[in-house]
Amino acid sequence: MELLVQGKAQLRGKVEISTSKNATLPILIASLLSEDNIKINRVPDINDVEIVKKLLQNLGSNLARNHEELNIRSFISNIYPDYELVRQIRASLLLMGPILATRRIVKISLPGGCAIGTRPIDLHLKGFEALGARIKMRGGNVIAEARELRGNHIYLDFPSVGATENLMMAAALAEGTTYLENAALEPEVVDLANFINCMGGSIHAAGSNLIKIEGRKKLHGCSYTPIPDRIEAGTYMVAAAATGGDMVVNNVVPEHLKATTAKLAESGAQVEEGDKWIRVRQFGPIRPIYLKTLPYPGFPTDMQAQFMAYLSHTVGSSIITESVFENRFMHAQELTRMGANIKIEGRTAIVKGVTQMSGASVKATDLRAGAALLIAGLMSEGSTCISNSHHIDRGYENIVDKLNAVGARIYRQ
Ligand code: UD1
Repeated sequence: MELLVQGKAQLRGKVEISTSKNATLPILIASLLSEDNIKINRVPDINDVEIVKKLLQNLGSNLARNHEELNIRSFISNIYPDYELVRQIRASLLLMGPILATRRIVKISLPGGCAIGTRPIDLHLKGFEALGARIKMRGGNVIAEARELRGNHIYLDFPSVGATENLMMAAALAEGTTYLENAALEPEVVDLANFINCMGGSIHAAGSNLIKIEGRKKLHGCSYTPIPDRIEAGTYMVAAAATGGDMVVNNVVPEHLKATTAKLAESGAQVEEGDKWIRVRQFGPIRPIYLKTLPYPGFPTDMQAQFMAYLSHTVGSSIITESVFENRFMHAQELTRMGANIKIEGRTAIVKGVTQMSGASVKATDLRAGAALLIAGLMSEGSTCISNSHHIDRGYENIVDKLNAVGARIYRQ
């Protein structure tokens, strides 16, 4: 699939932000913690959600969609999620917590090339072990098994979002109390805790680095609406600034976007905040900045690619340091094809601003890289053809329609 983007757009108008992908995925997975009826409202229509829905059905859950509402009746008849689905989405690792907690055994294929005890799932596994699980490796699968899960004091070497979520889900049905220290502070972690509490769980201080989870024997059904997508909102805000536009993003929690708004303001954009909206305008030239990705409330790694595209078109040099993930600069090469001047040195990118970017044929290597290329395409002279654009649809609901409604000209082909 390809997107054709006409350059020199100026985005003006309002965009309604969808429900957060990274909150919805773990919440859908946490529905496995109860066999009662669960209703999730405003579920975004994106490909990653479709994969998680298939994973839940493959395990035995019944799902019924009623407009934006998803009704789930969970039943785990299978403790080995389908490999073909698991390998498509890293969030499938989060199935481990609820399956282990309810069935006391789970078998899951490892993300490609990953050895036990090393990145990127060591923190999840160490946590499950601390709760009483035995971990085995068999033919590319990891098996976690426990006679019973018991609360414990767990220290995470790094505040991993996924490990915090997986362990919160497992501990929610463990015997006794679990303390998760150096836990991730991301709003999506807080949202998952709120959802589990809505099911009758007892999770305290999510959003701080010491989360207390009192295990419950059973959780019940509930109706829940996850938070708005701060990364989708941030992407539209950067697109507005990058095109010298004037855009309001509606249905946001401005508090969740502090790092993004601070960096936009530093780069010369005018940012105004209301209760549930943010307006971004850019009149003058984009100013070069320094930015470093960090766990929340630091600057989000999921916004790094979009800022790299934006900062390519400045006067002066910007420095971007990626401290959360290794090798998350694949978009730099594609941006270079569009005229950007970017040098990568280890975990740092030096973005020397150019006065003009020009449309080219480029490839979306992942979701946020795809979003960055869209932004670059909108800023450039001429047209840009983005191949592998299915990556973008993994996480952005109706992105083409939303952007075209505020002045872009993007065509699917
Ligand atoms: C989640 C988000 C992703 C975001 C990331 C960081 C979802 C579905 N995905 O991913 O969009 O970019 O948070 O904000 O919510 N690590 C280990 N060992 C582990 C686990 C992680 O070393 O056991 C490392 C990772 O390799 C990475 C860093 O920790 O370098 C951050 O990963 P983590 O916070 O776990 O990200 P995810 O939960 O995978």
